[in-house]
Amino acid sequence: MKVFLVAGARPNFMKIAPVYRAAKKHPAVDCRIVHTGQHYDREMSQAFFDDLDLPLPDFHLEAGSGTHAIQTAKIMTGFEKICMKEKPDWVVVVGDVNSTLACSIVAKKLLIRVAHVEAGLRSFDMTMPEEINRMVTDSITDCFFVTEESGEKNLLREGKPGGSIHVVGNVMIDNLFHQLERLKNEDGSRFPTQLLKEQSRPYVFLTLHRPSNVDHRKTFEGIAGALNEIAKERPILFPVHPRTKKMMAEFDIRLSDQIHELSPLGFKESLFLWKDAEVVLTDSGGLQEETTALGIPCVTIRENTERPITITMGSNILAGTRPEAILKANHAARQRGRSGTVPPYWDGKAAERIWNILTSVKF
Ligand code: UD1
Repeated sequence: MKVFLVAGARPNFMKIAPVYRAAKKHPAVDCRIVHTGQHYDREMSQAFFDDLDLPLPDFHLEAGSGTHAIQTAKIMTGFEKICMKEKPDWVVVVGDVNSTLACSIVAKKLLIRVAHVEAGLRSFDMTMPEEINRMVTDSITDCFFVTEESGEKNLLREGKPGGSIHVVGNVMIDNLFHQLERLKNEDGSRFPTQLLKEQSRPYVFLTLHRPSNVDHRKTFEGIAGALNEIAKERPILFPVHPRTKKMMAEFDIRLSDQIHELSPLGFKESLFLWKDAEVVLTDSGGLQEETTALGIPCVTIRENTERPITITMGSNILAGTRPEAILKANHAARQRGRSGTVPPYWDGKAAERIWNILTSVKF
């Protein structure tokens, strides 16, 4: 059984790592990694492959940045070539980035079966490119691997056959637990940010990169104002995404000197910082889930989330993007401290379940 496992952007790499590792336990599975090249800077891509113990990709499409149409088209043409030559039995896509959408369409039109890991999540916000990617991918997926109950409900409501939907848990959490174990045996002093971490405790950890937050001057200025307020009480450690860096320069956004702007961090160093944060402020999807798995107070700077279980069961508070609302949520998160329960099947074994199902699916 030949399988192409597709990754393109930073959050994909954490998701394919446990899936790739678990494939090795199935001798009948020939699992090849396809890197679309959507993310390409060393610190956005290769650093993750190194940290996550992923081998060099079997195929690299080198698609790079561009408008959504250009990027998606480049990925599609590159992926079509290798699919036609290699004829995989399955294409496994993860998450909701442009690479997910592009490769699932190519596979399906070549009559190759598509499995979607992290299927069924919905923000119901069609202004998010990720929501379009999720909906299009799920509309042509053959086998749905779902992280939380809401995903199953959404897919059933959209008319997907129940037998093709599998609640398997969360591969992001498989990776988190695996990496936490490894971090225990490592000397923290190898991380350049160790001193900053020790001097800053208690601190807030921040990530921010959604176009809806950083591509609009007024919204970004408002968020920056709230962050500068929070920084009066707590230092903030802030690895800055390339998109955010570009927009900060364009809008001339000035942050307090208590907000420590860092280069994008590898997975391990990022985990080393956020796992001990007093509060995590973020607009990332993955961090909402990872903080929930460890019970760390998280404030999501967005108007909606496609991961509602992180709020109903976990430690996440959905703040919105208005400055007063962010300040209020940050205060509540700090008061609340470590809290929440870990959702069902977020136990580090999702990838194993995925292969047990994929290797036994009959069509
Ligand atoms: C993409 C995903 C988003 C995910 C995010 C994680 C889509 C639609 N969006 O958003 O869901 O949360 O990745 O990071 O797929 N750039 C670099 N170096 C790189 C990559 C990008 O400098 O290695 C810069 C380029 O200027 C590029 C911009 O960042 O134009 C945005 O990159 P892109 O991949 O288009 O979207 P992200 O905002 O990273």
